[in-house]
Amino acid sequence: IADIKGGESEGLDRLGQTLTVRGWVRTLRVQSSVTFIEVNDGSCLSNMQCVIDSDAEGYDQVESGLIATGASVCIQGVVVPSQGKKQKIELKINKLVTVGKSDPSFPIQKKKVTREFLRSKAHLRPRTNTFGAVARVRNALAYATHKFFQENGFVWISSPIITASDCEGAGEQFCVTTLIPSSKEAIDSPADAIPRTENGLIDWSQDFFEKPAFLTVSGQLNAETYATALSDVYTFGPTFRAENSNTSRHLAEFWMIEPELAFADLNDDMACATAYLQYVVKHVLENCKEDMDFFNNWIEKGIIDRLSDVVEKSFVRMTYTDAVELLLKSKKKFEFPDIKAFYMRLNDDGKTVAAMDMLVPRVGELIGGSQREERLEYLETRLDELKLNKESFWWYLDLRRYGTVPHAGFGLGFERLVQFATGIDNIRDTIPFPRAPGPPSR
Ligand code: 4AD
Ligand code: MG
Repeated sequence: IADIKGGESEGLDRLGQTLTVRGWVRTLRVQSSVTFIEVNDGSCLSNMQCVIDSDAEGYDQVESGLIATGASVCIQGVVVPSQGKKQKIELKINKLVTVGKSDPSFPIQKKKVTREFLRSKAHLRPRTNTFGAVARVRNALAYATHKFFQENGFVWISSPIITASDCEGAGEQFCVTTLIPSSKEAIDSPADAIPRTENGLIDWSQDFFEKPAFLTVSGQLNAETYATALSDVYTFGPTFRAENSNTSRHLAEFWMIEPELAFADLNDDMACATAYLQYVVKHVLENCKEDMDFFNNWIEKGIIDRLSDVVEKSFVRMTYTDAVELLLKSKKKFEFPDIKAFYMRLNDDGKTVAAMDMLVPRVGELIGGSQREERLEYLETRLDELKLNKESFWWYLDLRRYGTVPHAGFGLGFERLVQFATGIDNIRDTIPFPRAPGPPSR
């Protein structure tokens, strides 16, 4: 349908052609002389309006009620001018085939359904305008991400999902274990199924990896190993955190983009983050016009103007000290943030670190990044201070032992980017299958 209606003439260049459309019925309007069937195939927001009269092949499927909202159809017809205001062309049906009928219990009928309700129907919600548009814009952002980094000489690195290290040190990792066998008895009483040592601790030696393993919270440390060999690299993959997931900005499973720049400092890092964000936002404004108009009209008024500003205007840079002062003046309650991660480079003041966050309206923290501590002695001292096990970071310390370089990077939460670019207010509606605690409709 995008191919037919997407061009400048909105399909008028196709008048008289016989075409086939395959998709799912969105609505059906039966009138005395003709019936209108709106079909969507997900290639774009627009439906193809198809008109059938009683002498067309397959009309009996309309009469018998086989054609209903949700059914999949294959329609062959001739492109004719449309009398309707919503489209320039429509398809006059020659032949209608129901590929898969739809039970009358199909839960997404035309009446407006809430996004909370749709969260409990994650398998069917991509059939709605909103979730179709989000999926296409998410795809465009992923494409633009790879395009930006590839055009700028970055190499894409696959960082592992199963790992032994906790990059952020915040203790938010999910543990991976095979200790509980999948037998019914073991699930009913898992305590009995977990092998323990004499002093009651979990006996990891009997587990699959023979030691504790976790789902990654960040691919950064792995990216650093490649940045100190291939220069600029980036990761783009799923990450997991068992934290504060009950908000509109947190997921237990989210995708992160983590560039790591070699021979670079915090200023280079901020410049890269800004250029990246401007590039991907510009890409969706230029390539997802129909979907962006939809978000502008139905999800967040004015979002297109705001995103255009992001592309055209420079970003405000504020130091930590100024930000704290501003917050104190605002008289709003706020807590001083936690201690910073072990890998962040110590500033000359001996107190603060070379770190940055990028905050955007509505979403808040979109990016977190820093210059990394490249000096072996400083890093060792920092690990000691935080009581982290130096032995387990032997390979990370090796990077400082053999040809260390100043380097910096950042992490961008991909779902927060989708939130920012679409105006969708809850992060659970930016990823196909959100993972968070609690009932799905929350
Ligand atoms: O600020 P964070 O924790 O930084 C890191 O993980 C660094 N290792 C990144 C780096 O320097 N390579 O996370 C980075 C970003 C956040 O700014 C936020 O956008 C997103 O990841 N994020 C989440 N998004 C959704 N749900 C969560 N639970 C998230 N936690 C972080
Ligand atoms: Mg952060």
